[in-house]
Amino acid sequence: MRLVAILTCAATGALLAAPTFANEVKPAADAKRVKELVAGRCSLCHGMEGESASPVFPRLAAQHPEYMAKQLKDFRDGRRKGTMNEMAADLKEEEINGLANYFGAKPAKSKRPGDTDLAGVGKYVYDKGNKYTGVASCASCHGPKAYGTVQLPRLAGQNAHYLETQLKEFNQRARTNDNAVMHAIASKLTELETAAVAMYISGLE
Ligand code: HEC
Ligand code: HEC
Repeated sequence: MRLVAILTCAATGALLAAPTFANEVKPAADAKRVKELVAGRCSLCHGMEGESASPVFPRLAAQHPEYMAKQLKDFRDGRRKGTMNEMAADLKEEEINGLANYFGAKPAKSKRPGDTDLAGVGKYVYDKGNKYTGVASCASCHGPKAYGTVQLPRLAGQNAHYLETQLKEFNQRARTNDNAVMHAIASKLTELETAAVAMYISGLE
């Protein structure tokens, strides 16, 4: 499967986002059950392709399955709070894994450019942090292109509105399943830096 994707990529010269090769999580429910859940429940807000129906909802396309499965379990078990608690309440482990694999395998789409001046400030913060206030560089963990890792969320192309909200929630400790890492970072960001870094990241492919 992966080999095929690489060959297709080489043959067509098409740009494939790195997370296309993300690891699947197991055990996973069968494709029919997963499709049923996506169509009947998730697509209302996240779309069939994980592209999300509104900037309030996170894009799930190309997000790492392991990260998504963890978040879904945290929503189900009440460790992370929000709209999703109800959506995940009755999901079995295989369904969670199947849904995470489904959305993780969807290709990331390229994004419309935002405010370029603001994004410039955001690029600085993303790449270098802010040494005057002790903000760590986002790239040092999320990677230079914001692709993340298995445990760390992909941020590239995520909706700016959602990113900003999450950064504020980390700051206020409202994202209750945070392991303190993002709180330490978000609490040092100014309003301008928060808006700027969200704008920059949302334009990354
Ligand atoms: C009514 C709208 C709605 C529906 C339906 C919905 N979600 Fe969500 N989802 C959200 C919102 C809003 C968030 C952002 C977190 C929050 O504030 O609760 C979210 C967050 C998530 C996240 C975490 C993303 C991240 O980057 O941390 C995952 C994974 C997710 N949803 C998967 C699903 C799946 C799978 C389904 C179907 C079973 C689903 N959602 C149904 C609104 C929805
Ligand atoms: C020391 C490592 C580290 C650094 C530096 C870091 N992050 Fe994170 N970030 C994480 C981890 C770990 C998570 C996952 C938290 C979880 O599991 O809930 C995360 C999650 C996030 C999320 C939530 C994404 C989602 O899909 O819901 C956003 C947004 C985010 N980081 C933005 C940033 C920004 C912007 C910066 C730079 C100002 C930054 N991070 C710097 C480790 C880091």
